[in-house]
Amino acid sequence: MPKKKPEPAKKAETKKKVVKKAAKVEEVVEKKVKPTPTLLRGFRDILPEEQGRWNFIRDTARTIAEAYTFDRIDLPILERTDLFLRTIGKGTDVIDKEMYTFADPSNRNVALRPEATASAARAYITHGMLDRPQPVKLWYQGPMFRHDRPQAGRFRQFYQLGFESFGASEPIVDAQLIVLGMQIFKDLGLDVKVQINSIGTYDCRQAYLAELVAYFRQHRSKLSDDDKRRLQKNPLRLLDSKEEVTRELLEGAPQILDWLDDKSKDHFMKVLEFMEDIEIPFELNPYLVRGLDYYTHTVFEFILADSDPNKAQNALGGGGRYDGLVEALGGRETPACGFALGIERIARALSDKDINPPQRPQPAVFFAQLGDASRRVGLKLFEEFRQAGIPMAEAFGKNALKAQLEVANKVGVQLTLILGQKEVLDGTIIIRDMDSGAQEIVDVKKVVSLVEKKLSSKQGVAPVVQSPISTVK
Ligand code: HAM
Repeated sequence: MPKKKPEPAKKAETKKKVVKKAAKVEEVVEKKVKPTPTLLRGFRDILPEEQGRWNFIRDTARTIAEAYTFDRIDLPILERTDLFLRTIGKGTDVIDKEMYTFADPSNRNVALRPEATASAARAYITHGMLDRPQPVKLWYQGPMFRHDRPQAGRFRQFYQLGFESFGASEPIVDAQLIVLGMQIFKDLGLDVKVQINSIGTYDCRQAYLAELVAYFRQHRSKLSDDDKRRLQKNPLRLLDSKEEVTRELLEGAPQILDWLDDKSKDHFMKVLEFMEDIEIPFELNPYLVRGLDYYTHTVFEFILADSDPNKAQNALGGGGRYDGLVEALGGRETPACGFALGIERIARALSDKDINPPQRPQPAVFFAQLGDASRRVGLKLFEEFRQAGIPMAEAFGKNALKAQLEVANKVGVQLTLILGQKEVLDGTIIIRDMDSGAQEIVDVKKVVSLVEKKLSSKQGVAPVVQSPISTVK
């Protein structure tokens, strides 16, 4: 049967519908095509719910830094690549595989800092700090970047808290830094021990390295490809290899402590004596070498007292002496020592052990408003309550009183202040007791002191501030 021709009006309408449908399809397709941006691998958001623990860690470190008279320094995140090549050293994983380097718009070769000791040493030289009373003691915190393979406890952007002491060569400085680190862990409620070793001076290390390489060459065929590469490029790193074969071979390998010159031995013995004197729990670990080239003499790491020594990424922090670093950057010969802690790993340890930071008290008061005039008064009230030290919650995005009271209930406040247009005109405000539902109209000028009184009489039900230490045996 021949198809019936549509009438012109109908035809136009059909066309309109088709166009509309096509537009909708396009919109949907467009929406589907628009992917939501995802995080880069190894990068993460530190969410509001994690901030309690993070602040606890940062505040504890800051308090201790100040008590030990370390001065805060903020260092740039971007530095010339060369800074790290000259200090951390070629042949290390950080330099060979993990640095975020690129040419900046002026075609300079720059890098996102993989650590901050090199930057601190650069700053020491840049600002002529050798003319200040020595030692110059600096602390910092902030993000570091390493393009390593992400896994639990290892990120590509991670945060460190670092402490550096420039200009003193005495072993007591090494010991004091370790004590400082341990004090941070103690105040956080974490049971931590120190692993410690000495890798001596650059010179005595050369003789040891020759011996070590000779030993491992005999067993080269048994080594993994990675360890073969280490043997060739950075044989010291064989000491902290995680490969089982290498670890077995290490039992028969020469030990660096036997190759220390007298001065290095004496320095190390004194550090250990200080640690014994102040009863810092430590373990001698002859295989501890650390992954950065600038270390001399003492090297150490902080690990949880009950952690498995063979587990990867178990160091909560680490550091050591680096007497040659300032000179390597063109500065005067300057002994130095320091360490850095990894905030993510400490936060994870706190969470694993269910150690909770002191909680910020929940707001006890909610401000409910009805209309713009009321919001304006509200802005002023917020400031008055802030000055009185009473945090106040609100839901400015909501207009209806019912919806606002629902939020107030969810927040769990004890009192809600209700300000409608009538109250604005009268210069009054309503105080609603959220438990009993009782309401009272009061002079807006007296509301802060009245609320203060009401809250103190309700103190028995005020949120309890939890002590982090009380949860630790
Ligand atoms: P580091 O051992 O490379 O030393 O890093 C110190 C701490 O930062 C580690 O013990 C670990 O807790 C944390 N950390 C390192 N890499 C990562 C990562 N990819 N993801 C999460 N956490 C990580 C240094 O950086 C030296 N600058 C320390 C120092 C200061 N030496 C002398 N002064």
